[in-house]
Amino acid sequence: MSLELNDALGELKPSAIRRFSALAAQTPGCVSLTLGEPGEVTPASIRRCVSRSLDEGKTHYPPNNGTMALREAIAARCSNTGLLVDAQQVIVTNGATEALFSTLVALLNPGDEVIVPTPAFVLYQSIALLARARVVTLDTSEDGFQIDAGRLARLVTPRTKVIVLTSPNNPTGCVLDEKSLDAVAELASKRDFYVVCDDVYEELVYSDELRGHGFARLHPELSDRTVVVNSFSKPWAMTGWRLGWLTAAPEVVSQIAKVHQYAVSCEVSFTQDAAVTALATDTAPMRERYRARRAITLDALKRMGLPCVEPEGAFYAFPSTEGLCTSDEEFCERAIREAGVAVVPGSVFGCPGHVRISYATDDATLEEGLKRLAGFLRDLRG
Ligand SMILES: Cc1ncc(COP(=O)(O)O)c(C=O)c1O
Repeated sequence: MSLELNDALGELKPSAIRRFSALAAQTPGCVSLTLGEPGEVTPASIRRCVSRSLDEGKTHYPPNNGTMALREAIAARCSNTGLLVDAQQVIVTNGATEALFSTLVALLNPGDEVIVPTPAFVLYQSIALLARARVVTLDTSEDGFQIDAGRLARLVTPRTKVIVLTSPNNPTGCVLDEKSLDAVAELASKRDFYVVCDDVYEELVYSDELRGHGFARLHPELSDRTVVVNSFSKPWAMTGWRLGWLTAAPEVVSQIAKVHQYAVSCEVSFTQDAAVTALATDTAPMRERYRARRAITLDALKRMGLPCVEPEGAFYAFPSTEGLCTSDEEFCERAIREAGVAVVPGSVFGCPGHVRISYATDDATLEEGLKRLAGFLRDLRG
């Protein structure tokens, strides 16, 4: 008899994004536009703080929820942008990944339902499965990747516990409009469920009018049921540092803190001063670089004749590949084999018939990848 493991693991699949990146890596000369990872290294001013912290001997366990200096800096940043929280409401986490893990494990009971608007980043569903919750997907592809109030209302049941909002979205780059956010707020208030906002791309919104208009700022009356998750990974090119944070109402944060404490204890001690410096580092130069790459990508897609809802944020484009191959997976496998360019199938995010192109990479890689994609499409169409 073999010893049993947690049955939820049987339903968890290894990340398909990684599968396509690995396939690209094994294919000699393949250009990869798969990973949501900034091409640049972290700015030097932030990197230098780590050696200073080590020289100062900051090598001991820091407080579980993060150093007070970092929590205060995060709270100040949130408050300056209209999200009123104090340092006690902040937990410094191991990236947004752990923030989402600790939050969902703290909020969910077995059998609870989690509404995930799709296309969506794969992490939410995997964590919900581990928490023995049921994932209910809300297809937004017919609504320009916005949330339709009627469609959402039909999915809410007495077991609905959480909705997860990602704006800007991975993989579409779309920013949820006020109508979508109001629809969520009305139902969350009437039907009593939590709203978990994955705001990791909030700094990477290309229109000044749309930046900083996330759910939590627009609906402060729901602060008792809103958890905001954020990360240093994307706007400051700090993916490898594994640094993020979450904010929530005091009574919610104190419960999430228990999961955080037993899962990871605390974040690395000598990176926390660097994180304070990151928060004081202007994200505009990074945003401008991505804005330029977005223009290059959208222009190339237009010339290729691939329809794409214009991404207003993050660093992804999500064009339709409907009718070009028997499936989006086949499209991506053939693109790697036949043209030496890797992108990710939309079905990975619950939205077949599309592919995700990441333009987070450097300009030369992006231009070469797009050139190869154009050649692949010419061959496909004969
Ligand atoms: C929407 C979204 N949320 C969370 C994460 C995880 O971010 P972190 O590196 O902070 O764990 C990612 C990473 O790609 C993401 O795209």
